[in-house]
Amino acid sequence: DAVDSAPAIVVGSGYGGAVAALRLAQAGIRTLVLEMGRLWNTAGPDGKVFCTTSAPDHRSMWFRTRTEAPLGTFLWLDVVNRDIGRYPGVLDRVHFDQMSVYVGRGVGGGSLVNGSMAVTPSRSYFAEQFPTVDADEMYGTYFPRARAALGVNSVDPAWFESTEWYRFTRVSRKHAEKAGLRTTFVPSVYDFGHMQREAAGTAPKSALGGEVIYGNNQGKRSLDKTYLAAALGTGNVTLHTLEKVRAISRAPDGTYVLTAERIDETGKVVATKEYGCTYLFLGGGSIGTTELLLRARETGTLPDLDARVGAGWGTNGNVMLGRANHLWDTVGANQSTMPVMGIDDWANTANPVFAEIAPLPTGLEHWVSLYLAITRNPERASFSYDTGSDRLRLGWTAAHSAVSVAMAKRLFDRINAANATIYRYDLFGSRSKVFADDFTYHPLGGCVLGRATDDYGRVRGYPRLYVTDGSLVPGSLGVNPFVTITALAERTMARVLAEDTAP
Ligand code: FDA
Repeated sequence: DAVDSAPAIVVGSGYGGAVAALRLAQAGIRTLVLEMGRLWNTAGPDGKVFCTTSAPDHRSMWFRTRTEAPLGTFLWLDVVNRDIGRYPGVLDRVHFDQMSVYVGRGVGGGSLVNGSMAVTPSRSYFAEQFPTVDADEMYGTYFPRARAALGVNSVDPAWFESTEWYRFTRVSRKHAEKAGLRTTFVPSVYDFGHMQREAAGTAPKSALGGEVIYGNNQGKRSLDKTYLAAALGTGNVTLHTLEKVRAISRAPDGTYVLTAERIDETGKVVATKEYGCTYLFLGGGSIGTTELLLRARETGTLPDLDARVGAGWGTNGNVMLGRANHLWDTVGANQSTMPVMGIDDWANTANPVFAEIAPLPTGLEHWVSLYLAITRNPERASFSYDTGSDRLRLGWTAAHSAVSVAMAKRLFDRINAANATIYRYDLFGSRSKVFADDFTYHPLGGCVLGRATDDYGRVRGYPRLYVTDGSLVPGSLGVNPFVTITALAERTMARVLAEDTAP
């Protein structure tokens, strides 16, 4: 039999894929997970699984010859990025015409590279973005379920106030308060007990050792330690890595057929495989899932997909920026890579912004306060797929980003005015660039809940085909997205297992 088949297949092992795999497996349904990245569980010659941000090597990025870090320069110098060997590294930066998107590659998806901030959105904004979702059920059942399974915890406030590792956060809080702005602690999936042991010198340093965007060797509760470990523990899940799903079609009996390419560590395709399944769950993330469905619609393998597949995409209003502090406001040479606080001005209807206070851990005092602002940018773009070149395109433009920048600027102009400070001009490559608005960490949409799918993520026109990832979110959430993606996937799985998989 040339076709490997399983009752259920899950594409991708990020948040949406991991939730699907665990809940299917617990229901006794044999499940195959296909992930294009590698499994990050074996140490390299240096004894570590992941490389550091300060000395990135081949493990850092997905088939690159040079790293592409978010902060390209320091004092305008090209000191940040490094030449590396081509390899299926853990962080990818997917380039479209006027926007690029950072994503994680590997078993665990974005959980391997992200900042661990585990934020539940405000109920009113959630309800506005998801008018057909029962908010009582989300806030009563699925958000708590997601937070528990993800291992969300909070920094001890007393330790936070006293440790050198969060001095940079306290300085930014002081500057925000001087402008009359509110700050709030944000929970995390980084184990703060471990972090305190790192500070005490009784555990190896990871968050306190500059590790984050190229993976954490310690302390982080990434999905491979939580949902995916539990899924594999059931004995009902098989995981194939370095396999990228290329095509989806439907057999005459209504089952799904997948074509996947298996690559080796040089990126060479070493085999093309076919898989069959009854239930198909797409968890490839906003870009991965949307690309698969658009290709299927445009090449005619799933011709009845809804016209709204590809639409409703946004950046969650992401903008990164730095401020230059006065000499007496030292931010500290020692900075934890895990943010724990945000400036919460979301309720300001004239200019809603939630800005996380981000670290810049260089090991030297640099007087920079760094932020990732989440702005309420209403612009949305669509993906399109060109069959001739087999290319996914994204209609997001610089004009769309300018809306985010204007909102971030209004907030931080206030903070600068109150503190007599200025922006940093040297961090993003060119002489005048203050606001990094050409990349996002939070790609959202492309297969929006209630539009391209029904209200539970069932893909319109195709029974037993589901989307469980960030492509369901309509472009904006107001906070960091993974808790919401996880909770929505929990909601989808509860419904699907109750209604669709009964014998
Ligand atoms: P996700 O991207 O996690 O997973 C998709 C998986 O599918 C990947 O492993 C991919 O390789 C695989 N895949 C895709 N296409 C495939 C195909 N065709 N075949 C096989 N496999 C395929 N969020 C947050 O809430 N708090 C935070 O602190 C941060 N910080 C942050 C920092 C950085 C640097 C990044 C890049 C991102 C964040 N995020 C974040 C965002 C968060 O990580 C993101 O929203 C989620 O990972 C998205 O989850 P999904 O399940 O949608 O896909």
